[in-house]
Amino acid sequence: FNVIASDAMAMLQVTNEYVELMDKEMVIVTDKKVVIKNLDGELMSRASYIAELDASDIEKGTYPHYMLKEIDEQPLVMRKIIQTYQEENGKLSIPGDIANAVAEADRVYIIACGTSYHAGLVGKQFIETWAKVPAEVHVASEFSYNMPLLSEKPLFIFISQSGETADSRAVLVQVKKLGHKALTLTNVPGSTLSREADYTLLLNAGPEIAVASTKAYTAQIAVLAILAAVTAESRGKELDFDLVKELGIIGNAMEALCDQKDEMEMIAREYLTVTRNAFFIGRGLDYFVCLEGSLKLKEISYIQAEGFAGGELKHGTIALIEDGTPVIALATQEHVNLSIRGNVKEVTARGANPCVISLKGLEEADDRFVLPEVHPELAPLVSVIPLQLISYYAALHRGCDVDKPRNLAKSVTVE
Ligand code: G6P
Repeated sequence: FNVIASDAMAMLQVTNEYVELMDKEMVIVTDKKVVIKNLDGELMSRASYIAELDASDIEKGTYPHYMLKEIDEQPLVMRKIIQTYQEENGKLSIPGDIANAVAEADRVYIIACGTSYHAGLVGKQFIETWAKVPAEVHVASEFSYNMPLLSEKPLFIFISQSGETADSRAVLVQVKKLGHKALTLTNVPGSTLSREADYTLLLNAGPEIAVASTKAYTAQIAVLAILAAVTAESRGKELDFDLVKELGIIGNAMEALCDQKDEMEMIAREYLTVTRNAFFIGRGLDYFVCLEGSLKLKEISYIQAEGFAGGELKHGTIALIEDGTPVIALATQEHVNLSIRGNVKEVTARGANPCVISLKGLEEADDRFVLPEVHPELAPLVSVIPLQLISYYAALHRGCDVDKPRNLAKSVTVE
């Protein structure tokens, strides 16, 4: 038989042979043949291809949910990314044309949706602080209708786990028409965003099945870090630390965190079992991770959750703090540690139930959880793991369908 699917992965159990359809084409499918025509009725000939996906990669194994399996895979993914982007002499490298494209751009525009957008916020920081190239991050669906004034030599970076998100693709089509260069960071080789961009960097995270993205987020941040570091080097601005070594330390820290699931389950039980809302606060990089943590929690547990910049609380949101409101605060950044601690005191004084997650070296006596020591600029790669696990257990305790939350889809191929 022949069958139509929106994603190769969906039919991997029955075939590995696929034929791609392009925009504005019609297809007539029978059990014996597939006929593709364009809108003028002309026949289109197209060879099939073999998807290089292993059916065993999309099995759950002994895990109760894909999400838990994918959270646990993160240390392995870190190691795989290092291997992929490391040369024999130990140095990190990416294809020369990509490094040049970033180095020569006068401004980088990062375009993404959802979790990928949150990874982009962290990536912008790397590109600006390490490579010293100005960078902006935009939600794709906003950018396409409200394009900002572009710089003279922009480079567009599309971040998309699936490589199929319609909102991001709409921007790619627009910027290609304008003649600008585009790089896609994706987990899916051969995906639409990869095919249509000038360059692709692969995440190598393995198939991500759970709707709520976990390992793709950390993979995106790691690949963005490598991209920024290599670009920095090509612009003569070397990092003052060894990224390969630090990413190795991150892998070990991730493993240690994944081994503390009982503790995460306890935190979820303590803070999130009966509440109707929750707040995540942080400053700098921690703020970006708070956005992702709150998205994870709302996506799968349906608890109304918001991520806030610690300093912005007093300008409105603090009015929502009531007796017992859970406030999860991240404290991994030394230069804002005192300020975020101050914000925790403000919400606690108004009745909040604070849960501080700090980085080793910055911890205080009442902190609920202390993260293993890692390079602070890479802290998002580890601080997100407790937030992923807490969301997972909160959803589980509430009887939610963790892998397939209501109203959501893994690849959003419509506007
Ligand atoms: C959907 C998913 C989100 C994801 C977003 C972007 O909304 O539910 O989990 O972050 O799309 O997906 P992408 O594949 O472009 O990263």
